[in-house]
Amino acid sequence: MNIILLGPPGAGKGTQAQRLVERHGMKQLSTGDMLRAAVKAGTPVGLKAKAIMEAGELVSDEIVSALIGDELDAMPTGTGAIFDGYPRTAPQAASLEAILASRGRALDHVIELEVNEDALVERITGRYTCAACGKGYHDTFEQPAVAGTCDKCGSHEFKRRPDDNEETVRTRMAEYRAKTAPILPIYEARGIVSRVDGMADMDAVTGAIEAILV
Ligand code: AP5
Ligand code: MG
Repeated sequence: MNIILLGPPGAGKGTQAQRLVERHGMKQLSTGDMLRAAVKAGTPVGLKAKAIMEAGELVSDEIVSALIGDELDAMPTGTGAIFDGYPRTAPQAASLEAILASRGRALDHVIELEVNEDALVERITGRYTCAACGKGYHDTFEQPAVAGTCDKCGSHEFKRRPDDNEETVRTRMAEYRAKTAPILPIYEARGIVSRVDGMADMDAVTGAIEAILV
């Protein structure tokens, strides 16, 4: 199964993708995570992407589509893909069709996480992740069971994203409204869009997604 999780910054795409990976052995394909890894490694892609990401703007379509194609090529054919943060523009949506078709894959579901934008700034500015394994946490909504220790791997190192400040979040939301939300009708016309209340608690959101996937 190949699915897209669509929603503005902080909607819960990464949170829900991690849960689907754990429960179903699918693979999360997050262009944001791939770009952050490239920035950290100082690759040519990372050098191009760094300032754009810190400003909350979009990296070029060619770069992100190439990253997605490479990741899919590295995956076993039977493993399902969860696209998280991709596609984000009409050209990326067109590229994804070609990328999937050339690999014998097709999209099964586009799941839109519907959220109230006012809540997203709090979600994003409170977010942090384990520096060792990447497990996501939140100052208010998802704290480790033992303060300062990752539930998943026991690490004591955590990190925050440089683009998780209020000003950049506002730019990221504007980019979503202008360039990403308009791609939904492409998938609506094919009858593969489902909507989930992303303001519900995390377990309820997971349950609603599971109900779509059966
Ligand atoms: P990316 O990394 O994709 O960021 P984003 O789309 O802005 O989305 P986020 O990761 O901020 O939000 P999320 O929906 O994953 O929320 P999360 O689950 O963490 O992209 C970053 C940048 O990279 C872009 O700005 C761009 O520059 C570039 N880029 C990436 N892809 C690109 C592309 N395709 N094209 C061009 N450029 C690209 O949840 C947020 C917080 O809320 C967490 O702390 C979580 O614990 C909490 N939370 C989650 N769900 C709930 C809930 N139900 N209730 C309460 N709290 C919740
Ligand atoms: Mg994310």
